Formats: sequence, C-alpha cells, structure tokens
Amino acid sequence: MSETAKIILDGKEYNLPVVEGSENEKAIDISQLRAQSGYITLDYGYKNTGSTSSAITFLDGEKGILRYRGYSIEDLAENSSFMEVAYLLIYGELPSKDVFEKFDQNIRKHTLIHEDIKKILDGFPSKSHPMGVLSSLVTTQTAFYPESLDPSRSPEGVDLSIIRILAKMPTFVAWAHKHKLGHPVVYPNVNMDYCSNMLQMMFKMPGNDYDVDPVVSNALDKLLILHADHEQNCSTSTVRITGSSRASLYASVSAGINALWGPLHGGANQAVIEMLENIKADGGDTKKWMAKAKDKDDPFRLMGFGHRVYKNFDPRARIIKKAADDVLEKLGIQDPVLDVAKGLEAEALSDDYFVERKLYPNVDFYSGIIYRALGIPVDMFTVMFALGRLPGWIAQWKEMRENSEPIGRPRQVYVGENLRPYVPLSKR
Ligand code: ACO
Repeated sequence: MSETAKIILDGKEYNLPVVEGSENEKAIDISQLRAQSGYITLDYGYKNTGSTSSAITFLDGEKGILRYRGYSIEDLAENSSFMEVAYLLIYGELPSKDVFEKFDQNIRKHTLIHEDIKKILDGFPSKSHPMGVLSSLVTTQTAFYPESLDPSRSPEGVDLSIIRILAKMPTFVAWAHKHKLGHPVVYPNVNMDYCSNMLQMMFKMPGNDYDVDPVVSNALDKLLILHADHEQNCSTSTVRITGSSRASLYASVSAGINALWGPLHGGANQAVIEMLENIKADGGDTKKWMAKAKDKDDPFRLMGFGHRVYKNFDPRARIIKKAADDVLEKLGIQDPVLDVAKGLEAEALSDDYFVERKLYPNVDFYSGIIYRALGIPVDMFTVMFALGRLPGWIAQWKEMRENSEPIGRPRQVYVGENLRPYVPLSKR
C-alpha cells in the first residue's frame, strides 16, 4: 500500500496521500483536506508549500544542488550556451545540432520590433526605471500580436509567441537603456549571437564603431545561464499564477518582471552594489556594517546574503565568484568594491549570527560586480536578471498550461471583524 499521512482533527482521522518526486522529495497531498474536514493549511510566504509538480528544475537547498532538466548547473555553465539552455528548459531536451541551428536562426529572424514601439518608449520619462519600461514593453506585445491572447491557441501559435518574446527581449532591454540615456536606438543585427547582438544595441553610438569583446559577451552568456530558472520562486510563481487565469504569455512574463524587481528578489543585485559602494564611501569598515545587519532594531540587511531555499551554499554564487575574478583579470579591471565584498563574505562566514541562520552569499552577491565590469549600469542589473530568467518563466508557463493546471487561488484565515450593523454617515 502506498504511504499515507494521518491527521486527526476534532477526534476524526484523515488519511492523506503522500506524493514522491523523482529525487525522493516527499509531500503530503492536502488538496482534499478542506472538502473532507473543513480545515485548510496555513503557511505564510509558502515556506513549506508545494504549488505544483514540475519536471523543469531540481534544487536541493541543503546540498547546494541546482539542475535544469537533469543537467547540473556547473556542467551547463561550463559547456553550454544561453540559447541552448533556453531550448533545454522550454522543450525538455538538449537539441540536436540541426534543431539548434533552426531554433537559433528563428530567434535571430524575430529580433526586430515594431517601429511603433519607439512612440511608446518616447512616452516614458527618461528617469523611468528600466524594469518598469521592460515590463510595459513586454505587455505591449499583446497589442501587436492580439492572436496571442487566445488561450486555446495551437501549439504552433504558442511556439511563435515563445520565439517572439525570446527574440525581442534583448531589443527591449537595449532600447530601454538607450531611452534612459536619451540616445537613438540601435537596430538588431541578425548576424550576431544573442548576447553580442544585445551588447551592440546597448553600447553602439552614432559615428562610433563598437566591437563586442568576446570576453564580455561570453561572461554575460554565462550569467544568463546561471539565472535561467530557479523553480517556484516569487517571480516564477507570479508567472504561473498569472498564466493560470489563461492570461497570455506576454502578460504573464510582464507580471514576472514586476515581481522580480523588488530588492528581496532580483532587485538585490542593484541593492548589493549600492550597499558595497556605501560601505566603501563610509571608510570600508565591514565590521560596523556587519553589526548593523545583526541589529534587530536596524532595518539594514546584508544584501546578497541569505536565501529562502539554499541553507548551505548557493551553487550559482560559487560559479559567479570565480567568474568575477576571471572577468576582472581578463579585462584588466581592479574594482575596490570586490575587496569590500570579499571582506564582508569572509567575516559573515565566520560569524555566529550568519552561521546559525545559514546565511551565505546568494547569486546576487557577486553578479553586480561582473555586470559593472562589463560596462552595464547599475539600474540595468535587474533587467539582465529578467533577461536571464525569461526561458525559465516561459518553460514554467508552458508546463502549467500543458498540465491544464487549475487557476491559482490560495485560501486565508480571516481575522477581521465579525458581522456588525452598518451605521449611516449622518449618525457617526
Ligand atoms: N542580513 C541579515 N540578517 C538576515 C539576512 C540578511 N541578508 N537574511 C536573513 N536574515 C535573518 C533574518 O533577520 C532572520 O533572523 P531571525 O531568525 O533572528 O528573525 C533569519 O535570518 C531568517 O531570515 P528570513 O527573512 O526569515 O528568511 P527568508 O527565507 O524569509 O528570506 C531572503 C530570504 C528574503 C533572501 C533574506 O535572506 C533576505 O532578505 N536577504 C537579503 C536580500 C537578498 O539578497 N535577496 C536576494 C535573494 S536571491 C534571489 O531572489 C535571486
């Protein structure tokens, strides 16, 4: 007989099925509990709640394991490319050489965006944060491709939306950057790979040649691989829950971009660099800032430290720390902020407060240092994260739709007023 969990409520016993994943992860299926007993479960921040079963990404926070479709993040970061990883995440298998070439060509073909996007972009004040611009531009695609709104589209139709969003995102990213600078936009170049094309759109200026440095585009490609998926985090859950109402891929991804923006999620990479610069400007006394982070009366937190699921180490942070050293060396850059970061990390790793709470550097701790070395401005850091996370969001949206998952709708425990009579305004 398969394993069950027993729960006793008001003296009555209920047997709940236990579900086991392919890596022996176990869960108690409580989906019938309310119907049978009237009880729901309560779990603030979903710290202990699985919202779905998924075949895309496996992570073990205790052991520091991260795998996409069964391939280790270390293997993929070392040997693959972001476009290949995108294909793997979305379609489930590594592509053959022919299939990959077709996919890559198809992406290149769709990088151009409608000229009217320029008018929309012009409506944004130049001080707009590029994350807000990006999420808006992604939503505009529902207007340019209204057929994408149909939830019962053919697989070919859904596939076209997938290709379009993957292809156009670097153009949106680069144009959001150009708009902020007040510079003319640069058009995509179909002869260039994904990252090189985006870099030329970001950094080419009229009258000035811009040669993409392969060190820069390879480093960016690796960073995007590391960010490509991370199972049911805040932004991915947002994408799935938005899509569960049968909202289009573009609308769902746009929602994910907004969820990623916050400083406790993807916005941490911007917050980390700002924090490191503050510490440096303040004289570089890392002990003082460590003390602030530990003081419960002080709102300051060590940005880039701690993670909801990694309680040992974040495997992405290890790869990024090494990549930061490599990139800075290859580009001949000495960044004093890297020394502040390493000093903080060394102190935190031997500090009781951080050790007891299992707080380790996360993916965002060193990524900002690399982005800066690559010439990417601070307010574009989270935008780069969004670009990297795009294949994961697409894969999760597609999986949710293909599994015909029900609309996401959590319950609550109501703690407000009981029924009371309305008192007319004149009598108050
Ligand atoms: N600095 C100081 N203390 C911290 C930090 C930190 N960065 N992170 C957690 N803590 C402390 C909390 O105060 C809490 O202490 P307590 O037990 O004495 O109350 C304990 O560690 C547990 O922290 P929670 O906030 O309960 O953990 P949770 O899993 O809810 O939050 C989070 C995880 C949001 C990532 C948190 O560690 C944090 O705010 N880190 C800084 C922001 C950051 O780097 N975010 C990026 C995460 S990676 C990503 O999203 C891509």
